[in-house]
Amino acid sequence: MKILVFIAAIIVLASASALPSFAQPPNAEYFLQARHKDNIPLPRYTERRRSVLATMSPKSLAVFVAADVRNRQNDVDYEYRQSSDFLYLCGFPEAESVLMLIPGGLVLPKALDSSGARHEALLFVKKRDLYLEMRSGSIIGADRATALFGVKALENANFATVLGMLLAPEDSTLRRDTVFATTFPTSSVTEPLSGEVVNMEREARLRLQKQYPRALIRSQKRLLADMRQIKDADELRILRKAVDISIAGHRAAIAATKPNVYEYEVEAAMEAEFKRLGAEDVGYASIIGAGANSCILHYTSSRRQAETGEVLLMDSGAELFGYTADITRTIPVSGKFSPEQREIYNLVYVAQEAAIKEYRKGVDWRLPHSRAVEVIRTGLLKLGIITNPDDYKLYFPHGSVHYIGLDVHDAGNYATFQPNMILTCEPGIYIPAGSACDKKWWNIGVRIEDDILVTDGDPINVSAALPRRVEEIEAMMNAGTVPRKKR
Ligand code: GLY
Ligand code: MN
Ligand code: MN
Repeated sequence: MKILVFIAAIIVLASASALPSFAQPPNAEYFLQARHKDNIPLPRYTERRRSVLATMSPKSLAVFVAADVRNRQNDVDYEYRQSSDFLYLCGFPEAESVLMLIPGGLVLPKALDSSGARHEALLFVKKRDLYLEMRSGSIIGADRATALFGVKALENANFATVLGMLLAPEDSTLRRDTVFATTFPTSSVTEPLSGEVVNMEREARLRLQKQYPRALIRSQKRLLADMRQIKDADELRILRKAVDISIAGHRAAIAATKPNVYEYEVEAAMEAEFKRLGAEDVGYASIIGAGANSCILHYTSSRRQAETGEVLLMDSGAELFGYTADITRTIPVSGKFSPEQREIYNLVYVAQEAAIKEYRKGVDWRLPHSRAVEVIRTGLLKLGIITNPDDYKLYFPHGSVHYIGLDVHDAGNYATFQPNMILTCEPGIYIPAGSACDKKWWNIGVRIEDDILVTDGDPINVSAALPRRVEEIEAMMNAGTVPRKKR
């Protein structure tokens, strides 16, 4: 018996020291499956890189760095989210990667690439490591990255060598005089003891400058913003889907709302629906605030119990393949707005209606906000909430328009509207307790936020399927099967 136990132990030990079967290299199919069929098709990235290359001078190069892994605390990291610029240009999902664009291309030394091909794009990626892969998931590696992503990929240890070949070359015909370096993984960090804010983007540029004093180090933010602000057909398809998922989430959240519900329960209903429908995450921390919390613009803790008679403001958007919607609805906890809440709500609604009309080709992006301001200023004066017209800013303290896309506040150049831009329209009124107006208005916070597509003709409200009018919201809340009684 003892001998049998001994033999069994040897077998266990022997197999423990061997590589477990799931650390065997997965085949390329594994990674293709990880890319959902509805994600951005790979040829789209080639097109985007070509567009960037076409705007660069022949003596330049550009580097786009993947996001780093962010530590949450001690041994635990946040779930990884790729840098938006990097994602936009190659779709590669891993950290510790760099995309280099080289107008005119570079023929690599035979040791790095025996094909002798000229490459205008190079991807530098993590080296495969079966031990790490067993812990944190498969690493694609250079060979499979080349095969799957349509860009010549090298292990990232080669990045400095290739950069040196272009910035301080033995062969001067290869020399590039300008490096476009865009968003770095972490734009700034705070040094904990001194409190000094270290701008990492600047530091990285300075280091590069020191190493290659002859090169001009420039930011390329504006170039990518020009491209990213106009959505291609695949981006619009995905954004519409993200909006539809978000609408379903808002409907689930509305159905979960009743007196004495906790804000976190509403948030759970919202985000559960997002995930159930395939969203990988929220595009920003959900804002679910009842009563006094409805007046806090970026309230995210969701800990309070909502009471009858309060409004509940819900600003939440699903992220799909990296693209996020951004939608806000404000509803009465009881299913019926009070007369004061109704007044404020309708004012915001009319302001939003006036603003949405202005999302037209060639119109200055500031016009919708001005329209919303006109309505809200006049309305607040009429209701006696303000007496000085400029004081509207006390209760409407934010803008109404921003691009959405890979970032909830997406890249864009904020000039005139162009077809295939998609932007929010989000006026609001927030009257915290203690405001210099009749107490009956206190603790009413209302924002209505929709996602508007600019076209060659009329603007399209992509999130219009989610009710916005007072009557529709009340009808929706009272038609549900969940009795809206106190718990
Ligand atoms: N959810 C962030 C915003 O509305 O801008
Ligand atoms: Mn917004
Ligand atoms: Mn929002």
